[in-house]
Amino acid sequence: MDLRKLIRDIPDYPKQGILFFDITPLLGDPEGFRRAVDALAERFAASGATKIVAAEARGFIFGAALAYKMGIGFVPVRKPGKLPYKTRSVSYDLEYGSDTLCMHEDALLRGEKVLVIDDLLATGGTLSGVVKLVEEFGAAIVGIGVVIELTFLNGKQQFSTYDCESILQIA
Ligand code: PRP
Repeated sequence: MDLRKLIRDIPDYPKQGILFFDITPLLGDPEGFRRAVDALAERFAASGATKIVAAEARGFIFGAALAYKMGIGFVPVRKPGKLPYKTRSVSYDLEYGSDTLCMHEDALLRGEKVLVIDDLLATGGTLSGVVKLVEEFGAAIVGIGVVIELTFLNGKQQFSTYDCESILQIA
């Protein structure tokens, strides 16, 4: 099954000059969605992770499904003002702008094994923010998994010291 056929290219969204890769056709295709989640589960089956950490909004979709599949916990990373308890936060650069991410201050234990998941790796700004946040807890990142990697942006380079895996590469 060619997952690329389930990703829709949208030129000039959300801004002029940005080519947006729309995952909704993949999510709407039961086999495509299952294959993407199963592929991530296979890559990280031996990771020993006890928590998945993923950023809103699209990271939640794959992160939560994968946590369920792997039988481990899920920790949401959210934008400011969305989490009800005390938080830790980090600011990061995006492909188009900048933002801040937050996590509940008791979400992870020191030394806990964490798998960081997102739908897409573009510049890597979002993932590097999540990685920084997770490491502030003293947790150990045992893997970084994305469904789609935009290889022409070379975002993966900054994660060379991690087990960083993508299911579908777009060149
Ligand atoms: C998108 C996507 C990744 C990130 C990838 O999220 O879901 O998290 O951008 O880009 P990067 O590698 O350059 O950081 P976005 O911030 O648009 O939020 P959303 O999931 O709420 O749409």
